[in-house]
Amino acid sequence: MFESLVPDDLKPWRELLLIHKFAVDEIRTRLNNLDEEFQNIHDYNPIEHITYRVKHPNKIQEKLMRLGLEPTIENARSQIFDIAGIRIICAFSKDIYDVYEMIRGQSDLKVVEIKDYIEHPKDNGYKSLHVHIEVPVYLSNGVVRTRVEIQLRTIAMDFWASVEHKLYYKYRDKSPSKIQTELKECADLISELDDRMYSLKKLITCLENDIGEKCKDEDYIAEYFKEVK
Ligand code: GTP
Ligand code: MG
Repeated sequence: MFESLVPDDLKPWRELLLIHKFAVDEIRTRLNNLDEEFQNIHDYNPIEHITYRVKHPNKIQEKLMRLGLEPTIENARSQIFDIAGIRIICAFSKDIYDVYEMIRGQSDLKVVEIKDYIEHPKDNGYKSLHVHIEVPVYLSNGVVRTRVEIQLRTIAMDFWASVEHKLYYKYRDKSPSKIQTELKECADLISELDDRMYSLKKLITCLENDIGEKCKDEDYIAEYFKEVK
């Protein structure tokens, strides 16, 4: 895979990318296990899907230069913390925090940074939970603790972020203010949508656990809705 990314004589870069690929593979396996086990216990999958990437060396060098640093392998190792990236998409915010707790509970993983843009959205409306962890990667000559950036979002937040990202790359900070206002309003709509869908999910769970005449009782449903909203 990495043959196409860096020439053969750039061994240290190849090694850096390989270690981060192992870190991503390790976390993906653990997440898949957690998701399957959760399904087995609770009859429910908290993870909708996972995407991942190892940052291309050109992008690493670009980022170093943007930070005003020399694009060296040493700086890549010590200053770039998102070489390994995993994005976890969940149906509901509650799932995001459940998945985060499961990650946090693994004793050989170290949470080194957390940014909760769900509790504290960015000014533009961006919402996600960002967690940086260190995972031990076992090589033939020892262990390397390797940083992985994990972003957790709902499906709706991911939809918003993808569109916003495209606009950002097109306009950077110069996007017309009408676009920024519209994006912020869409972010607010998406938050409301997430909340309403979660209320529906809770209602469905309640009905499933309380099978009987109540399921058909419109007043009961209306009353329940009032409560969950
Ligand atoms: P980077 O230098 O990009 O890594 O940003 P940072 O070090 O300030 O970290 P932060 O946690 O804020 O952002 C990390 C990553 O989250 C970004 O590279 C994006 O993938 C994503 N992200 C952060 N803010 C936004 C945003 O406003 N819109 C979108 N679409 N993505 C964002
Ligand atoms: Mg980043």
